[in-house]
Amino acid sequence: MKIVRSVREMQAESDKIRRAGHVIGFVPTMGFLHEGHLNLLRIAREKADRTILSIFVNPTQFGPNEDLNHYPRDIERDETLAEEAGCDILFYPPVEEMYPAPFRTAVTVAEITQVLCGISRPTHFRGVTTIVAKLFNIVKPHFAVFGQKDAQQLIVIKQMVRDLNFDIDIITGPIVREADGLAMSSRNVYLSPEERKEAVMLYKSLMAAKTLIDSGERNADAIRAELERRLRQAKTAKIDYAEIVDTQNLKPLETIQGEILIALAVFFGRTRLIDNIQVSV
Ligand code: PAF
Repeated sequence: MKIVRSVREMQAESDKIRRAGHVIGFVPTMGFLHEGHLNLLRIAREKADRTILSIFVNPTQFGPNEDLNHYPRDIERDETLAEEAGCDILFYPPVEEMYPAPFRTAVTVAEITQVLCGISRPTHFRGVTTIVAKLFNIVKPHFAVFGQKDAQQLIVIKQMVRDLNFDIDIITGPIVREADGLAMSSRNVYLSPEERKEAVMLYKSLMAAKTLIDSGERNADAIRAELERRLRQAKTAKIDYAEIVDTQNLKPLETIQGEILIALAVFFGRTRLIDNIQVSV
Protein backbone atom coordinates (compact mmCIF):
# COMPACT_ATOMS: atom_id res chain seq x y z
CA MET A 1 0.00 0.00 0.00
CA LYS A 2 1.34 3.38 -0.99
CA ILE A 3 0.92 6.33 1.38
CA VAL A 4 0.49 9.71 -0.29
CA ARG A 5 0.51 12.99 1.64
CA SER A 6 0.57 15.66 -1.06
CA VAL A 7 -2.30 16.77 -3.29
CA ARG A 8 -0.05 17.00 -6.37
CA GLU A 9 1.26 13.47 -5.89
CA MET A 10 -2.23 12.08 -5.33
CA GLN A 11 -3.50 13.72 -8.52
CA ALA A 12 -0.51 12.37 -10.47
CA GLU A 13 -1.09 8.84 -9.10
CA SER A 14 -4.77 8.96 -10.06
CA ASP A 15 -3.93 10.27 -13.54
CA LYS A 16 -1.53 7.35 -13.99
CA ILE A 17 -4.18 4.81 -12.90
CA ARG A 18 -6.76 6.37 -15.20
CA ARG A 19 -4.35 6.45 -18.17
CA ALA A 20 -3.79 2.72 -17.68
CA GLY A 21 -7.57 2.29 -18.10
CA HIS A 22 -8.15 1.19 -14.51
CA VAL A 23 -11.23 1.95 -12.42
CA ILE A 24 -10.65 3.90 -9.19
CA GLY A 25 -12.89 3.21 -6.18
CA PHE A 26 -12.67 5.72 -3.34
CA VAL A 27 -13.55 5.57 0.37
CA PRO A 28 -13.26 8.93 2.16
CA THR A 29 -12.89 8.70 5.95
CA MET A 30 -11.73 10.64 8.99
CA GLY A 31 -9.74 7.62 10.19
CA PHE A 32 -9.84 5.63 13.43
CA LEU A 33 -11.05 2.86 11.17
CA HIS A 34 -13.56 0.26 12.27
CA GLU A 35 -15.37 -2.61 10.62
CA GLY A 36 -17.88 -0.18 9.02
CA HIS A 37 -15.06 1.57 7.11
CA LEU A 38 -13.36 -1.71 6.23
CA ASN A 39 -16.62 -2.97 4.79
CA LEU A 40 -16.81 0.14 2.56
CA LEU A 41 -13.28 -0.64 1.41
CA ARG A 42 -14.27 -4.23 0.57
CA ILE A 43 -17.26 -2.96 -1.43
CA ALA A 44 -14.90 -0.63 -3.32
CA ARG A 45 -12.41 -3.45 -3.96
CA GLU A 46 -15.05 -5.66 -5.51
CA LYS A 47 -15.84 -3.08 -8.18
CA ALA A 48 -12.54 -1.26 -8.67
CA ASP A 49 -9.13 -2.07 -10.10
CA ARG A 50 -7.52 0.28 -7.59
CA THR A 51 -8.92 1.38 -4.22
CA ILE A 52 -7.98 4.62 -2.54
CA LEU A 53 -8.87 5.44 1.06
CA SER A 54 -8.44 8.94 2.47
CA ILE A 55 -7.93 9.81 6.12
CA PHE A 56 -8.45 13.45 6.92
CA VAL A 57 -10.04 14.86 10.09
CA ASN A 58 -11.68 17.77 8.36
CA PRO A 59 -11.71 20.87 10.62
CA THR A 60 -14.38 22.74 8.63
CA GLN A 61 -17.09 20.20 9.42
CA PHE A 62 -16.71 20.62 13.20
CA GLY A 63 -18.54 23.38 15.05
CA PRO A 64 -16.69 25.65 17.50
CA ASN A 65 -17.69 23.59 20.56
CA GLU A 66 -17.36 20.19 18.97
CA ASP A 67 -14.76 17.44 19.29
CA LEU A 68 -12.20 18.35 16.57
CA ASN A 69 -9.28 18.37 19.01
CA HIS A 70 -10.32 15.16 20.72
CA TYR A 71 -11.45 13.27 17.63
CA PRO A 72 -9.82 9.81 17.96
CA ARG A 73 -6.73 9.28 15.81
CA ASP A 74 -4.42 6.29 15.37
CA ILE A 75 -2.70 6.46 12.01
CA GLU A 76 -0.41 3.48 12.57
CA ARG A 77 -3.30 1.18 13.38
CA ASP A 78 -5.28 2.64 10.44
CA GLU A 79 -2.39 1.97 8.05
CA THR A 80 -2.27 -1.70 9.10
CA LEU A 81 -6.05 -2.14 8.86
CA ALA A 82 -6.31 -0.39 5.48
CA GLU A 83 -3.45 -2.46 4.04
CA GLU A 84 -4.93 -5.72 5.37
CA ALA A 85 -8.28 -4.81 3.79
CA GLY A 86 -6.58 -4.44 0.41
CA CYS A 87 -6.30 -0.67 0.06
CA ASP A 88 -3.88 0.31 -2.75
CA ILE A 89 -3.30 3.97 -1.85
CA LEU A 90 -3.84 5.69 1.49
CA PHE A 91 -4.23 9.45 1.00
CA TYR A 92 -3.38 11.11 4.32
CA PRO A 93 -2.83 14.83 3.76
CA PRO A 94 -1.92 17.38 6.44
CA VAL A 95 -4.37 20.25 7.08
CA GLU A 96 -2.16 22.88 5.32
CA GLU A 97 -2.20 20.75 2.18
CA MET A 98 -6.02 20.67 2.07
CA TYR A 99 -6.63 24.24 3.26
CA PRO A 100 -3.69 26.36 2.11
CA ALA A 101 -4.08 29.98 3.21
CA PRO A 102 -5.86 32.05 2.08
CA PHE A 103 -8.72 29.59 1.60
CA ARG A 104 -11.91 31.32 0.41
CA THR A 105 -14.18 28.80 -1.29
CA ALA A 106 -17.00 26.63 0.04
CA VAL A 107 -19.54 24.29 -1.51
CA THR A 108 -23.03 24.52 -0.03
CA VAL A 109 -26.13 22.48 -0.70
CA ALA A 110 -29.32 24.33 0.21
CA GLU A 111 -32.37 23.22 2.24
CA ILE A 112 -31.59 19.55 2.94
CA THR A 113 -28.55 20.66 4.97
CA GLN A 114 -30.67 22.85 7.28
CA VAL A 115 -32.79 20.04 8.75
CA LEU A 116 -32.03 17.07 11.06
CA CYS A 117 -28.29 17.34 11.92
CA GLY A 118 -28.17 20.76 10.21
CA ILE A 119 -30.25 22.28 13.02
CA SER A 120 -27.77 21.64 15.82
CA ARG A 121 -24.75 21.60 13.45
CA PRO A 122 -25.48 24.54 11.09
CA THR A 123 -22.06 24.65 9.38
CA HIS A 124 -21.39 20.91 9.36
CA PHE A 125 -22.57 20.00 5.87
CA ARG A 126 -20.86 22.97 4.24
CA GLY A 127 -17.61 21.55 5.64
CA VAL A 128 -18.48 18.07 4.41
CA THR A 129 -19.43 19.09 0.87
CA THR A 130 -16.41 21.37 0.56
CA ILE A 131 -13.94 18.67 1.58
CA VAL A 132 -15.67 15.92 -0.42
CA ALA A 133 -15.67 18.11 -3.55
CA LYS A 134 -11.95 18.76 -3.00
CA LEU A 135 -11.25 15.06 -2.43
CA PHE A 136 -13.14 14.18 -5.62
CA ASN A 137 -10.96 16.63 -7.58
CA ILE A 138 -7.79 15.23 -6.00
CA VAL A 139 -8.52 11.48 -6.03
CA LYS A 140 -10.47 11.55 -9.33
CA PRO A 141 -12.40 8.36 -8.57
CA HIS A 142 -14.88 6.65 -10.90
CA PHE A 143 -17.01 5.87 -7.87
CA ALA A 144 -17.00 6.60 -4.14
CA VAL A 145 -18.51 4.56 -1.31
CA PHE A 146 -20.24 6.24 1.66
CA GLY A 147 -21.89 4.58 4.67
CA GLN A 148 -25.65 4.59 5.21
CA LYS A 149 -25.09 5.45 8.88
CA ASP A 150 -24.58 9.08 7.84
CA ALA A 151 -27.85 8.99 5.90
CA GLN A 152 -28.23 12.76 5.60
CA GLN A 153 -24.60 13.17 4.49
CA LEU A 154 -25.18 10.57 1.78
CA ILE A 155 -28.29 12.36 0.49
CA VAL A 156 -26.47 15.73 0.56
CA ILE A 157 -23.47 14.32 -1.34
CA LYS A 158 -25.70 12.71 -3.97
CA GLN A 159 -27.38 16.10 -4.44
CA MET A 160 -24.00 17.86 -4.80
CA VAL A 161 -22.78 15.27 -7.32
CA ARG A 162 -25.95 15.72 -9.34
CA ASP A 163 -26.02 19.52 -9.15
CA LEU A 164 -22.31 20.02 -9.93
CA ASN A 165 -22.10 17.23 -12.54
CA PHE A 166 -19.33 15.26 -10.86
CA ASP A 167 -18.78 12.23 -13.10
CA ILE A 168 -18.65 9.93 -10.06
CA ASP A 169 -21.04 7.18 -8.98
CA ILE A 170 -22.02 7.27 -5.33
CA ILE A 171 -22.41 3.83 -3.81
CA THR A 172 -24.00 3.15 -0.43
CA GLY A 173 -22.50 0.76 2.11
CA PRO A 174 -24.76 -0.72 4.81
CA ILE A 175 -24.60 0.18 8.50
CA VAL A 176 -22.32 -2.27 10.32
CA ARG A 177 -23.45 -2.97 13.89
CA GLU A 178 -21.94 -4.36 17.07
CA ALA A 179 -23.42 -7.67 18.33
CA ASP A 180 -25.99 -5.78 20.47
CA GLY A 181 -27.09 -3.53 17.58
CA LEU A 182 -25.11 -0.33 18.25
CA ALA A 183 -24.00 1.14 14.91
CA MET A 184 -20.20 1.22 14.59
CA SER A 185 -18.77 4.71 14.87
CA SER A 186 -15.34 6.14 15.65
CA ARG A 187 -17.06 8.17 18.39
CA ASN A 188 -18.24 5.05 20.29
CA VAL A 189 -14.81 5.08 21.93
CA TYR A 190 -15.86 8.17 23.94
CA LEU A 191 -18.68 6.31 25.74
CA SER A 192 -18.38 5.37 29.42
CA PRO A 193 -19.39 1.74 30.21
CA GLU A 194 -22.83 2.95 31.34
CA GLU A 195 -23.33 5.15 28.26
CA ARG A 196 -22.17 2.31 26.02
CA LYS A 197 -24.79 0.00 27.55
CA GLU A 198 -27.53 2.58 27.14
CA ALA A 199 -26.52 3.57 23.59
CA VAL A 200 -28.06 0.32 22.31
CA MET A 201 -31.40 2.07 22.88
CA LEU A 202 -30.85 3.86 19.54
CA TYR A 203 -31.16 0.58 17.69
CA LYS A 204 -33.87 -0.79 19.98
CA SER A 205 -36.07 2.25 19.47
CA LEU A 206 -35.58 2.09 15.68
CA MET A 207 -36.61 -1.57 15.76
CA ALA A 208 -39.65 -0.71 17.89
CA ALA A 209 -40.65 1.93 15.32
CA LYS A 210 -40.30 -0.61 12.53
CA THR A 211 -42.44 -3.11 14.43
CA LEU A 212 -45.15 -0.47 14.81
CA ILE A 213 -45.05 0.28 11.07
CA ASP A 214 -45.06 -3.43 10.21
CA SER A 215 -48.16 -3.84 12.38
CA GLY A 216 -49.95 -1.15 10.37
CA GLU A 217 -49.31 2.13 12.25
CA ARG A 218 -49.24 4.99 9.74
CA ASN A 219 -49.38 8.02 12.03
CA ALA A 220 -45.85 9.46 12.12
CA ASP A 221 -46.48 11.33 15.41
CA ALA A 222 -47.42 8.07 17.13
CA ILE A 223 -44.14 6.55 15.98
CA ARG A 224 -42.13 9.64 17.00
CA ALA A 225 -43.74 9.40 20.46
CA GLU A 226 -42.73 5.74 20.74
CA LEU A 227 -39.15 6.55 19.67
CA GLU A 228 -38.91 9.27 22.30
CA ARG A 229 -40.52 7.14 25.00
CA ARG A 230 -37.96 4.37 24.41
CA LEU A 231 -34.99 6.75 24.21
CA ARG A 232 -36.00 8.43 27.47
CA GLN A 233 -35.62 5.07 29.22
CA ALA A 234 -31.85 5.57 28.90
CA LYS A 235 -30.78 7.75 31.84
CA THR A 236 -27.73 9.22 30.11
CA ALA A 237 -29.60 10.03 26.87
CA LYS A 238 -30.53 13.53 25.70
CA ILE A 239 -32.45 13.57 22.44
CA ASP A 240 -31.25 15.97 19.74
CA TYR A 241 -33.87 14.71 17.29
CA ALA A 242 -36.00 11.65 16.57
CA GLU A 243 -37.49 12.24 13.13
CA ILE A 244 -39.40 10.51 10.39
CA VAL A 245 -38.75 12.11 7.03
CA ASP A 246 -39.12 11.59 3.31
CA THR A 247 -35.87 10.15 1.88
CA GLN A 248 -35.94 12.54 -1.10
CA ASN A 249 -36.34 15.96 0.54
CA LEU A 250 -35.84 15.09 4.25
CA LYS A 251 -39.14 16.82 5.11
CA PRO A 252 -40.98 15.52 8.22
CA LEU A 253 -43.89 13.23 7.40
CA GLU A 254 -47.35 13.16 8.92
CA THR A 255 -48.27 9.85 7.35
CA ILE A 256 -45.99 6.89 6.79
CA GLN A 257 -45.96 6.27 3.08
CA GLY A 258 -43.38 5.42 0.42
CA GLU A 259 -39.64 5.42 1.20
CA ILE A 260 -39.12 6.86 4.66
CA LEU A 261 -36.10 7.52 6.82
CA ILE A 262 -36.31 7.21 10.59
CA ALA A 263 -33.33 9.17 11.88
CA LEU A 264 -32.02 9.70 15.40
CA ALA A 265 -29.38 11.92 16.96
CA VAL A 266 -28.94 11.45 20.68
CA PHE A 267 -26.33 12.54 23.20
CA PHE A 268 -25.14 9.86 25.61
CA GLY A 269 -23.33 12.00 28.14
CA ARG A 270 -21.29 14.35 25.92
CA THR A 271 -21.15 11.99 22.95
CA ARG A 272 -23.58 12.65 20.13
CA LEU A 273 -24.47 9.50 18.20
CA ILE A 274 -26.63 9.10 15.11
CA ASP A 275 -28.45 6.10 13.70
CA ASN A 276 -31.23 5.44 11.21
CA ILE A 277 -33.26 2.91 9.30
CA GLN A 278 -34.96 3.23 5.97
CA VAL A 279 -38.39 1.65 5.57
CA SER A 280 -40.48 1.15 2.43
CA VAL A 281 -44.24 1.10 2.92
O1 PAF B 1 -18.17 10.53 6.90
C1 PAF B 1 -17.05 11.01 7.16
O2 PAF B 1 -16.17 10.36 7.74
C2 PAF B 1 -16.74 12.43 6.75
O3 PAF B 1 -17.84 13.26 6.90
C3 PAF B 1 -16.17 12.54 5.32
C4 PAF B 1 -17.16 12.08 4.28
C5 PAF B 1 -14.90 11.69 5.22
C6 PAF B 1 -15.81 13.99 5.02
O4 PAF B 1 -14.87 14.49 5.90
